[in-house]
Amino acid sequence: MTAAPTLVPGLEGIPIAESGFSLVEGAVGRLSYRGYSIEDITGPQNTFEEIIALLHDGELPKQARIDEVVKDLQTKRSLTPEQIELARNAAKITHPMFALQAAVAVLGPMVNDFEPHVDTADERGMNLVAKVGHLVGVIAQAVAGRPYEAPKPTDTHAQMLLRMITGNEPSELDTRVMNALLILQADHSSSNAGTFTARVVTSTKAEPEAVVSSAIGALSGPAHGGANEHSLRLFETIRDPERANAQIERMLNDGYKIPGFGHRVYHVKDPRSKVIQKLADEVIKPGTELADLYSIALTVEDVATARLGDRGLFPNVDLFSGCVFAAIGVPTDFFTTLFAASRTVGWVLNMKEQWESGNRIFRPSQIYKGPAIREYKPLSTR
Ligand SMILES: CC(C)(COP(=O)(O)OP(=O)(O)OC[C@H]1O[C@@H](n2cnc3c(N)ncnc32)[C@H](O)[C@@H]1OP(=O)(O)O)[C@@H](O)C(=O)NCCC(=O)NCCS
Repeated sequence: MTAAPTLVPGLEGIPIAESGFSLVEGAVGRLSYRGYSIEDITGPQNTFEEIIALLHDGELPKQARIDEVVKDLQTKRSLTPEQIELARNAAKITHPMFALQAAVAVLGPMVNDFEPHVDTADERGMNLVAKVGHLVGVIAQAVAGRPYEAPKPTDTHAQMLLRMITGNEPSELDTRVMNALLILQADHSSSNAGTFTARVVTSTKAEPEAVVSSAIGALSGPAHGGANEHSLRLFETIRDPERANAQIERMLNDGYKIPGFGHRVYHVKDPRSKVIQKLADEVIKPGTELADLYSIALTVEDVATARLGDRGLFPNVDLFSGCVFAAIGVPTDFFTTLFAASRTVGWVLNMKEQWESGNRIFRPSQIYKGPAIREYKPLSTR
C-alpha cells in the first residue's frame, strides 16, 4: 500500500522550478541577480535598463546594450487610443492595481494560441515590461484627474513613471531612487506567489498578457505586494511617533500581522529593506510629515523585532518601501502598481524559462475531505 500523501500548506520548501535569474538566501539575508548581490547593483550608476539586460542576458551589459534596452522600451511602450481609454475608464471604478490588471489583460491578441508563436516570447515579454509601466502612468494621470499625456520620447522607464505619476519634470535624485526601487523588485526567485502564478498560467500555454495580468492579481494581495500600501496606511493611522510603541505592542498582543514584517524565506532582515533604508535617508526630508511616518516605521521595526526576532521574523521589503515611494511623489494607491511594473521583468523571464523547461502543466494533487460516493436523490424525495 502506498503511503497517504501529506499536505504541505503553502507548498513550503517544495521546489517548483529550476531557475537561473535570482537567488534568495534566507539564512544569510542575501538577494542576487545572476550572481550579483543586490547591494552592488542599486547604486547611483545603475539603471533599470542595465539590470533588465543583466537579468535577460546573464552578464553585465556594455553601454551599447544598455542603450538598446532603453530604445527597445521606448519603442515598445506605445499604446493604442482604445487601450489608453480602457485603462482610464477602469481607473474611475476600481483600485489602480485592479485597473492595471484589467488593462494588461486586454493587451492580449484577438487569438488565443500562443504555442506556435513561443519563439516570440522575448519580444512579447519586453512589450509587456514597456507597456505595463506606461499603463501605470496612464492610470495615475486618470486618478489625478489629468488628461492623458504621453511620456517624452527620450524618457527612460524611471523618468516616464515619475513624469506620468507626479505630473512634474523628474529630478535627478528622484530618478535615481526610482531606478533603485525598480531594480530591487525586478525578480525574487520563481517561487514567490506572483511569479509562481506566472509559471502556473504559463503552463496552461496561455498568452503572455494573461500570464502577467494573473500575476498582477496575485501581487495585489496584502500578504504579498500589497503590503507596501498597507504598511504606510498603518503608519498613517498611528500618526504620532510617540504613540507608536504602545500601539504596536497592542496590535501584536491582539495577533495583528504587521504589514512589511516577516517572510517565508528570509529569517534575518530582508536585504532589500536595507537598501531601501539608505534611499530613505537620502530622500526623506527631516521635519516633514513623511519623516514622522518613517520614524514610526523604525519604531515598528524595533518593537516587532524585539517581540518576534527570536522567531526569525524581521522587516521585509515592504516596511520601508512605501515611505520612499511617497518621498518621490508616488500616491499610496500606486505603490503596488510600481512593484508590478518592476516585477513584470521577472514574470516574463520566468515565463520564457518555463516554456524552455518543457512547460509541463502544473497539476498537483489534493487530499479529499468531502463525503464518499453516494446515491443521488431526485428532488421529489429529498
Ligand atoms: C510574509 C508572510 C505572508 C509569510 O507567511 P508564512 O511564511 O506563511 O508565515 P506565517 O504567516 O505562518 O507566520 C508564522 C508565525 O509568525 C507570525 N507572523 C508572521 N508574520 C507576522 C507579522 N507580520 N506580524 C506579526 N506576526 C507575524 C504568525 O502569526 C505566525 O505565528 P504563529 O505560529 O503563532 O501562528 C507573513 O509573514 C505576513 O503575512 N507578513 C505580513 C505581510 C507582508 O509583509 N507581506 C509581504 C511579504 S514580502
